[in-house]
Amino acid sequence: MILLAPNLYRLSPGLQPLWFLEDGKLAEMGAGNAVHDASLGKEIVRRINELGAISEDPEKLTRIYLSKELRTAAELILGWMREAGMSAHLDAVGNVCGRYEGERPGAACLMLGSHYDTVRDAGKWDGPLGVITAISCVADLNRRGKRLPFAVEVIGFADEEGVRFASTLLGSRAVAGTFDESVLNTRDRDGVSMRDALVTFGLDPDHIGAAARARRELLAYLELHIEQGPVLEAASLPVGVVTAIAGATRLAARLTGMAGHAGTVPMALRRDALTGAAECIGAIEQFCRTDESGLVGTVGYIQARPGATNVIPGEVSFTIDMRAPTDMHRKRAVADIVRQIEAIAKRRQLSLQLDVTHENRTAPCAPWLKEQIAQAIAAEGFAAFELPSGAGHDGMAMIDIADVGMIFVRCRGGISHHPDEHVELADADAGARVLLRVVENFRPREDR
Ligand code: GLV
Ligand code: MN
Ligand code: MN
Repeated sequence: MILLAPNLYRLSPGLQPLWFLEDGKLAEMGAGNAVHDASLGKEIVRRINELGAISEDPEKLTRIYLSKELRTAAELILGWMREAGMSAHLDAVGNVCGRYEGERPGAACLMLGSHYDTVRDAGKWDGPLGVITAISCVADLNRRGKRLPFAVEVIGFADEEGVRFASTLLGSRAVAGTFDESVLNTRDRDGVSMRDALVTFGLDPDHIGAAARARRELLAYLELHIEQGPVLEAASLPVGVVTAIAGATRLAARLTGMAGHAGTVPMALRRDALTGAAECIGAIEQFCRTDESGLVGTVGYIQARPGATNVIPGEVSFTIDMRAPTDMHRKRAVADIVRQIEAIAKRRQLSLQLDVTHENRTAPCAPWLKEQIAQAIAAEGFAAFELPSGAGHDGMAMIDIADVGMIFVRCRGGISHHPDEHVELADADAGARVLLRVVENFRPREDR
C-alpha cells in the first residue's frame, strides 16, 4: 500500500473509523455490508456503455466540444432526463439541463452535475459517471413519487476538458456567468472558430449569456466523479469525500528558430526549435521531480514545423500543465519554470512566445457539504475518507455561484484519461446510493 502525502487524507471528524493502521497499512474493519440489488449500478453501467459508444472514432472514445457526436450524446442524455421525470433542455452553450421540481414549483435547486465531453482516446467514466448517476438518482425519486422541499437539477456540462479550444470549463463558466467572450474567436486545430462551431451546433454565439444562473437559484452544487487516482483503491474504499479541487495553470509555448537543410547546416550553427523544446520539457520534468510537495507538470501536446525528416524544425508549439496542492506553491513553480524556459530560449537564440491559456485557483469544498456527504457514506456502511482532487472539475467554476461538494468513486488502478479507465458495478452502485442519500437528506445551509 502506498499512501502519498498522508496528511492530505483523513477520516471525517466524529465518525467511527472502519479501518485502522496496522504496520503502517490501512486494514479494513468491515464496510458496506448492506444487502441491495445494485439496480442503480446496473442502470448506470448500461448507460455508461451506451454513451461511451458515441465517438468521432469507432476505435476509440473521443467526444469533443461542439462536435456532432457531442450533439448525439446530448440528445441521448436529454431523453434519459425526461424519462426520469425531469423537464430538460440544451442551454445556450450546449450544456444538457434537467429539472425535477420540488414540492413547490419554482423553488431553488440542489444542482447535481458533471461533464459529458471527453479527452481524446478517453475512458468512458470521466464526466459521464456523474451525469448518469445523478439522473438515476432522480429517476429513483420519481419512481417513488417523492418530491423534496427543493428542486433537483441535473446538468451535463458540454466542455470541461478544454480539448478543442485550449480553454477549459466552458460549460460551467457559462452557467456561473464567468464565460470569457474573447474565447469565441479562438480556433481549433482545423482553424474552425468557436463562434462558427457554435452556429454549426445550432447555438447562437451572441446569446451565451442566457446560460448564466443566479446564486439565489442554487442551494449548492454537488458532483460525483471517478477519483482518477489510486488512493481509494489503496484504502479499499468505494467512495470518498473530496476536500478541495487543486488549482491549475496551463500555458502555450512557441519557440521559433530557423528551419534549414538537415544535411548541410553544421550542428553548431543551428537554431533548432525542437531540440530547444526538448530541453525545456526535460527542465520541467526535472523541476517537478525534485519538488517534494506534490507539484506536477505535464507537456501533453507538441507540434514541430515544418515537420519533415530532412528539415531542421524552425518552429515548435507545446503546452504546459502545472498543478500543486496550494495556489501559492503552483504560482511560484510556474514563475520558476518560465524563467528556465526563457533562459533556454535565449541561450539557443530562439524567440519565445509564452501565453497563459488557463488559470484556475484551488476550489475548497464547503465544510457543511463535506459533512452531509460523510454522513451519507457512513450510513451506507463505509468509512468516510477524505481526499483532495488533483484533477480539475466543473466545481472550480461553479464555486463562483454556489458552495461545492464532491463525492469520489474508486476506479481501477487509479487509471484515467485512458481507455482502460474502469469502475466496478458495485462501486458505481455505492456511489449512486451515497448520492441519493445526500439528496434525500439534504439540508440547505442555515442562512438560506
Ligand atoms: C480535467 O480532466 C483535468 O483535470 O485536466
Ligand atoms: Mn478529464
Ligand atoms: Mn472529469
